[in-house]
Amino acid sequence: MKLLRVLNGEAISPPPVWLMRQAGRYLPEYREVRGRAGDFISLCLNPELAAEVTLQPIRRYGFDAAILFSDILILPMALGQDLRFAEGEGPLLAPLRDAGALQPAGAASIYAPVLETVRRVRAGLPQETALIGFAGGPATVACYMLDGKGGGEFPRTRTLAYENPALVRAVLDILVDATIAYLQGQVEAGADCVMLFESWAGIFPAAQFREFVIEPNRRIIAALKSANPGLKVIGFPRLCGLLLGEYARRTGVDAVGLDTVTDPAAAIAACPEGMVFQGNLDPLLLKTGGAAMEEGVARLLRGFEGVPHIFNLGHGITPDVPPRNVARLMELVRGARVSA
Ligand code: CP3
Repeated sequence: MKLLRVLNGEAISPPPVWLMRQAGRYLPEYREVRGRAGDFISLCLNPELAAEVTLQPIRRYGFDAAILFSDILILPMALGQDLRFAEGEGPLLAPLRDAGALQPAGAASIYAPVLETVRRVRAGLPQETALIGFAGGPATVACYMLDGKGGGEFPRTRTLAYENPALVRAVLDILVDATIAYLQGQVEAGADCVMLFESWAGIFPAAQFREFVIEPNRRIIAALKSANPGLKVIGFPRLCGLLLGEYARRTGVDAVGLDTVTDPAAAIAACPEGMVFQGNLDPLLLKTGGAAMEEGVARLLRGFEGVPHIFNLGHGITPDVPPRNVARLMELVRGARVSA
């Protein structure tokens, strides 16, 4: 598998490619299955349909990796927190006030369908296509659990970090253990590597970043690697800025997913020798396409020449992306025509 070769430190040209949110509303075949499933959570918990939408972008574009179709918020739901997705509003949770309200013992039975999806996807994928399992990073998941919704500001979580750090720590501790068990389940079900989405890592000041992002990520990765020698882990500490090098050195990640703003040369300079990079084309270029996208892809490929690189976006594909632009992106990265 090209993806695993790169995660083992090899620089390959052209690089393996997959895209965050490669399964999603920009694809008509996804919208069709989503319509059949009813709501988004039902889709995540339906192994047959979730496996189908995971495989759709692989069939259409031949990506080098599939990513399990689920959501980072399935874990808090499995821990007993109410979750719903309001149309056009994103996720809504009942804001958590007491870590004691969570029920870690019951989580595995609730996320069991997700592990069944992993088994089905692995069985349905071409041998050379890697399957990426994932979870949210504990800090990011805690932001949604404590604030009850997204939006990127998370005022309640950031205030609690000063006024009631014991609550934040208790939630993070529960999430670390639950995430280890959840990802271990995904690995045993057939995931070839795993990714931690710390999408809101960048909202914390440095001292809190060390405590709430680096240390919990380190504990998860250490546990997974000791149980699964050779397992590769991708971290995505979005918007972490100058703390990227520290994150890369101290968490034990094999690869860092870079957000859109990060310059390849700066990331390479900040990280230890041998680090693998994933990213980081501006997702907006997939919407606009044309010469700007061609130039963006060429610049990115040059930026990571000679270092182990997995081609991806700096954040997820948006629903307004024309599928033909993804086909063109694949031609540009691979230097060969693909059908779409
Ligand atoms: O990348 C993939 O194709 C795999 C599946 C995946 C989804 N969400 C599917 C999804 C993954 C890896 C995620 C991660 C996720 N979920 C993150 C971290 C990455 C990031 O984007 O920062 C976060 C913060 C979430 C929480 C979440 N889920 C939000 C904020 C939303 C609403 C935004 C939106 O686009 O509506 C979701 C919903 C969601 N997760 C959708 C998909 C395909 C859209 C649901 C739909 O079909 O309506």
